[in-house]
Amino acid sequence: MRKLIAGTGWKMNIGAAEAARYAARLLSCLDAASRDLLDLFVLPPFTSLHAAHAAFLSSPVGIGAQNMHWEASGAWTGEISAAMLAEAGCKYVELAHSERLQHFGETYEFVRRKLNAAMDSRLTPILCLGETRQDKSLGRADDVLAEQIGIALADQSASSLPAIMLAYEPRWAIGAANAAPPDYVAERHRALRSVVRQRYGAQAAGDVRIIYGGSVTPGNSEALMDHPDVDGLFVGRAAWSPEGFAEIAAIVARAAMKRKLS
Ligand code: 13P
Repeated sequence: MRKLIAGTGWKMNIGAAEAARYAARLLSCLDAASRDLLDLFVLPPFTSLHAAHAAFLSSPVGIGAQNMHWEASGAWTGEISAAMLAEAGCKYVELAHSERLQHFGETYEFVRRKLNAAMDSRLTPILCLGETRQDKSLGRADDVLAEQIGIALADQSASSLPAIMLAYEPRWAIGAANAAPPDYVAERHRALRSVVRQRYGAQAAGDVRIIYGGSVTPGNSEALMDHPDVDGLFVGRAAWSPEGFAEIAAIVARAAMKRKLS
């Protein structure tokens, strides 16, 4: 059975001092089921990683970065390598977030190189995949997802799939008023899993975890988690308060308990 996940990306929010306060508060309000049953992650901005690492040390919450460079070192002003992230205590690295595609010219070709470097440094890549509103209206969502996976995972083999987290994040639902409808999300997750099955086989498709991100709130989490192909939630705004994150984690943990019993 796949272990469920609750995570948050802070984007360009929460500096080092606030990160320590957030962590202390989150650890005081996470319930026992969330701690025991879930993988939990927080992705602070680079300058808050040190404080977050210290504050979450020996806790069930892993930290990660929101981006990285594909080279190990060199003349790349302003960039951070996978090895540097690992040294800073990162367990995860987010790749291909829609804001990076939209504002920084990130492409899946670059993402492929970053993902390879992340794997070499034993970071868990959180690979974001998602269609634009236009792709959706043209009925191309599943084709786009297959294309993105095809490029980003081109150098990976079936055995590496369990070490990669896929995040379905429809670009039109990020920072929006509403999440994508749960049934729509379930269809895309099924389609993603079937692409993994075609390319990497049944075992990899069964093992790979696919989380959903895009305007998740405590109010819509239960319905999103009600689908067996949704393995967790990746939260922005609603988890920028530790109480919000703990509340959503508790809902994901309840889904984990329900799945164990069924
Ligand atoms: P929001 O939850 O604020 O829409 O952000 C989601 C996100 O960017 C997940 O990566």
